Amino acid sequence: MRKKNQAFMGFATLLFLACCLCICKSMPTEVQRQAVNDRPVIGVLTQIVSDDVMKPFGRTYIPASYVKYLESGGSRVMPIRLTHTDVEYENIFKKINGLLLIGGAVNLETSDFARVAKLFYKLALEANDAGDVFPIWGTCMGLQLLTVLVAGKNLLTETTAENIALPLNLTTEAYSSRIFRDVPPDLIKAVTQEPLTGNFHHYGVEVKTFMENEDLQSFFSILSTNVAENGAHFVSTIEGKKYPFYGVQWHPEVNRFQWKSNLNFPHSRHAVQLSSWMAEFFVNEGRRSLHQFDNPEEEASSLIYSYTPIYAGNFTGYEQIYFF
Ligand SMILES: *[C@@H]1O[C@H](CO)[C@@H](O)[C@H](O)[C@H]1NC(C)=O
Ligand SMILES: *[C@@H]1O[C@H](CO)[C@@H](O)[C@H](O)[C@H]1NC(C)=O
Repeated sequence: MRKKNQAFMGFATLLFLACCLCICKSMPTEVQRQAVNDRPVIGVLTQIVSDDVMKPFGRTYIPASYVKYLESGGSRVMPIRLTHTDVEYENIFKKINGLLLIGGAVNLETSDFARVAKLFYKLALEANDAGDVFPIWGTCMGLQLLTVLVAGKNLLTETTAENIALPLNLTTEAYSSRIFRDVPPDLIKAVTQEPLTGNFHHYGVEVKTFMENEDLQSFFSILSTNVAENGAHFVSTIEGKKYPFYGVQWHPEVNRFQWKSNLNFPHSRHAVQLSSWMAEFFVNEGRRSLHQFDNPEEEASSLIYSYTPIYAGNFTGYEQIYFF
């Protein structure tokens, strides 16, 4: 009798578990929300070589620091050259899980870099609108380019902060932003008080210009500002209100991956933590993208692993550079 009871209880438990599974399976929205891609690939547009000393090595390049930065966040990297057709870019878009626009010095409206960035930007807007998450991050000139794309015009003015590390002047919105809201309080305090962000720019978007532009104002929240050498207040961190698009006028990758001693790269413990936080944050946004390559062979041949960076510490401010 007892044995029979136990058997019945066991059967009932099984039935209960099975029903739970059924219920979970019959809730597709729940399953969708939890879908996570733990093998993200972030695309990086190659940058146009403008510096004469780099010209012998290739027409475009990616400093290895950006690659290491993304890899440190748990992503793999696909270099994206500027020589493809529009159809090829549309195809690449369906395989990668986010895009990083790196720094540089090119025309933000007429260069190939700007043209390809615009193509991805438009694809990303459409995809996100359709619920297909696709994050974009712009660093330094990448932030500047995002503002040109959103505003439809170049609003940059002189905001020189060249070779200087600064604390961030966080706005009220920063504290509830996706980028900063989960940052531990002691690191937030350090970010606002210690020079943890390396600046290497001559142009930027002034806070005033940003506030007066309806397109920028409605698209992005300003999370931090800084003061340039000429006294201009410039926008230093931005986050899309609706889209997973992010921009920093400073360089989070240098804190851990660039070491030129005559350049003001922050390397303190807090500086390293901030850099890690940013990389992990953006890569985690990439995990929300379910794009994937058609097969493992295609994936393997697209990733940066089959390229070799060269030592560049004796003729640039970078230690290593990938040339294309
Ligand atoms: C910080 O930003 C506020 C506006 O958010 C501004 O009024 C203030 O002058 C800024 N301070 C510094 C030191 O940049
Ligand atoms: C930099 O170092 C490499 C490797 O040691 C060397 O081959 C190259 O000639 C050097 N370049 C310059 C510009 O000094």
